[in-house]
Amino acid sequence: MTEVLNRVVVVGLGLIGGSFALSLKKNQLCLEVVGCSRSQTTLEKGLELGVIDRAEYDLATAVKDADLVLLAAPIGSTESLLRAMAPGLDGHTVVTDAGSVKGTVVAAARRVFGELPGWFVPGHPIAGSERSGVEAADSGLYENHKVILTPAHNTSPTALALVKATWQGMGADVVTMNVEQHDQVLAATSHLPHLLAFSLVDTLAKAEENQEIFRYAAGGFRDFTRIASSDPTMWHDIFMANGDTLLSTLEQFSDGLEVMKKAIIEQDSETMLGIMTRAKAARDHFTSMLAKRAYRMMNEKNVIFTAQPGGKVAGRIRVAGDKSISHRSIMLGALAEGVTEVHGFLEGEDSLATLQTFRDLGVTIEGPNQGHVVIHGVGLHGLKPPHGPLYLGNSGTSMRLLSGLMAAQAFDTCLTGDESLSKRPMARVAKPLASMGAVIETQEGGTPPLNIKGGQALKGIHYDMPMASAQVKSCVLLAGLYAQGETSVTEPAPTRDHTERMLRGFGYDVKVAGNRMSLQGGGKLTATTIDVPADISSAAFFMVAASITPQSDLTLEHVGINPTRVGVINILLAMGADLTVFNERKVGGEPVADIRVRYAPLKGIEIPIDQVPLAIDEFPVLFIAAACAEGTTVLTGAEELRVKESDRIQTMADGLTSLGIEASPTPDGIRIIGGTMTGGEINSHGDHRIAMAFTVASLRATDVIRIDNCANVATSFPNFVELSRKVGIKLEVEEVGDSHGE
Ligand code: S3P
Repeated sequence: MTEVLNRVVVVGLGLIGGSFALSLKKNQLCLEVVGCSRSQTTLEKGLELGVIDRAEYDLATAVKDADLVLLAAPIGSTESLLRAMAPGLDGHTVVTDAGSVKGTVVAAARRVFGELPGWFVPGHPIAGSERSGVEAADSGLYENHKVILTPAHNTSPTALALVKATWQGMGADVVTMNVEQHDQVLAATSHLPHLLAFSLVDTLAKAEENQEIFRYAAGGFRDFTRIASSDPTMWHDIFMANGDTLLSTLEQFSDGLEVMKKAIIEQDSETMLGIMTRAKAARDHFTSMLAKRAYRMMNEKNVIFTAQPGGKVAGRIRVAGDKSISHRSIMLGALAEGVTEVHGFLEGEDSLATLQTFRDLGVTIEGPNQGHVVIHGVGLHGLKPPHGPLYLGNSGTSMRLLSGLMAAQAFDTCLTGDESLSKRPMARVAKPLASMGAVIETQEGGTPPLNIKGGQALKGIHYDMPMASAQVKSCVLLAGLYAQGETSVTEPAPTRDHTERMLRGFGYDVKVAGNRMSLQGGGKLTATTIDVPADISSAAFFMVAASITPQSDLTLEHVGINPTRVGVINILLAMGADLTVFNERKVGGEPVADIRVRYAPLKGIEIPIDQVPLAIDEFPVLFIAAACAEGTTVLTGAEELRVKESDRIQTMADGLTSLGIEASPTPDGIRIIGGTMTGGEINSHGDHRIAMAFTVASLRATDVIRIDNCANVATSFPNFVELSRKVGIKLEVEEVGDSHGE
């Protein structure tokens, strides 16, 4: 705040008012703090503790010519206090309050002044403690806490700005909303929990047989009831004031309790486990869901990677589970009859988004616990309508595959995602689904959110895919499970076939004849066990790392080598890499192997077009291999790269150019001339694979590479940093500010 206020009056010197006064002084926000209270003892204590500079007994006198007044007395006294101060108010003094129920405060002000005066800015700091009284006042109470202001249409902008600046000067984060919204949010997040805590302690303490309870009360009781030692009068006033809203929240809660009671009576462990697992996930992840960020973002910071040049790559590692297979394991497991166990599940944000979505659709899912997930399948027709939009974070695969499944449900759904996903093309799935009879509305330009209308009878189609896309193919085949008759797809080039393989693993007949896949609707999926191999797309970063770094010798274990995914191996071999695939075996329906990679000088090549769909996700790191190779590497036929998590052709060309490499983008590919990479600054544009590719580049750079916007690495490869360091990449991670600015 620029301007120091002359006089601020604090009415009510409890914890809230006292802390406000102390904070004004600590942050030098005003010259004089005057305290008003009904209790002389409190005022004397306030003076003695230095919380206030001066005590005033008459309210009208106190507020006369003050810059700001904070009403922090019990909410029930708002009306009488406003009446008492009214004669001293001349329209210049700004009044705000700290009451927990805004409807009551605004109604009181209207009764006194006829309307809510423009100089009155209702407010509510979301901070407190179970301690009360002026002795508990804390000058840091509002730091990093939210303060909600509920201005009306006629609130004076200068009054609002003054109140806002004062709270901000105390380190608070100020938000505005309307009165009804505030009272609803607070009923659910604050009033109900306090009511329950008071009630629980009272009920248990009253019962004869529970007399000993406090002696033995351990963690649970203690944690749950901490807030029951808050100020009873204040909470009494709040419960009464916000009665109607609180009652309806309480009713919802009672309904929830009834469901649990019934589950216990009927020994319905499925329902009980469903509630528990959903609640845990919601509790663990609510911050990132609210922030509309990638699913389980480490936090809301911008993550910066700094990679030092040099070092060699050595050791044996197993990278995280395959992302494509992890997504499909949840989808098919949820729709199967029986319990499916998954091992090696990728606990990355993308596959977790799929997992959470099926919880939102009423499926009980235990875990993930170190890659172990147990899915209590509900059958093809057992999904339940979700309570709100299904949030898919950064994950294109979740959205495209789910759109096929959701198009066939009896209920409506809305699929949303983060900033990057919200820009990606969805018409490619909406179009074939529409011709099956689905009703899907995209945004203008064919982007998410997708509004999918339920209750449509789908019919089988043949779809001749215009582009090689496993996501589109899978979407159509999954919708085909529900369609009448046969659904078939032909693909212009082979794409990953995990959906077809896994459907068979769940006992569903999928026919493959050349480039045509087909299935009949109306069958059923039977639960199975799935062992997810390590993701070749994640392993690729280390294949390139070892290939480009002299003296490297690295073994990657248990890597999925499905023939539709091995483009990276074929391309690296064609470039002269020293790479051996051994110990080949099959787990579930998928081939896996160990891969040993040693350094070898690479040469530039023209990448065979038939390898493009087989290496589609590996191009960012293959471009790094090309930059380290002798001669020119040319990629064509890869326009799909332009619509991935970022425009990967442009983002990589920009990054390589800034490291001194000649990289010329073309509409459907790139041309890269191998050379010496300098250090530099890279913007990953929030694309996980770009961030990881440039980390690998550091091994051959002449100076430090600093990569901005790396938080999304957690979408596909949550332990990338740890494994990079383990094999010898000198990588530091820093978290700064907020990543909103991308
Ligand atoms: C995927 C298919 C590919 C791939 C994506 C995962 C899948 O996308 O790029 O990361 O799991 O089906 P397209 O099918 O759109 O090429």
